Amino acid sequence: MISVIFVCLGNICRSPMAEFILKDLTAKKGLSDSFIISSAATSMEEIGNDMHCGAKSKLREAGVPFSKRRAVLFDDADFDYYDYILLMDKNNLRRMSYYVKKDTMGKIHMLMEYAGENRDIADPWYTGDFDKTYDDILKACQGFLKSLGY
Ligand code: 4NP
Repeated sequence: MISVIFVCLGNICRSPMAEFILKDLTAKKGLSDSFIISSAATSMEEIGNDMHCGAKSKLREAGVPFSKRRAVLFDDADFDYYDYILLMDKNNLRRMSYYVKKDTMGKIHMLMEYAGENRDIADPWYTGDFDKTYDDILKACQGFLKSLGY
């Protein structure tokens, strides 16, 4: 079993999109039973809230199934449990510095690393551009699965 948690600031746009995109990719490869996939926030801002309507519209348009959810805060139990902790941007990395210091197993990575790029996932919060976010996440999740041999 491979466990993966995506992390962003609010857990209403980027990280839940990544959660559902990776769930869809693994399901299509018949790998659902081999993965546990989740997402969480680094800030309290949106805790308890469902995914942003722009994120839902984009997933619907792309044919990616999703369900109603509530934003949750990343915590110590997540750090211990997950094999891969995948971050959306450098701000997330700064906010996770407490965990980065404890990350002797090298669990924490920037998601775009898996697309072969040293940059942030496009943030739709100020731009409203969920297309670019989706494209970045899809490419990186495909790269992530490839890095695992799938
Ligand atoms: P997310 O988007 O981190 O991709 O879920 C944001 C959600 C909330 C805020 C910023 C980005 N905020 O400033 O409240």
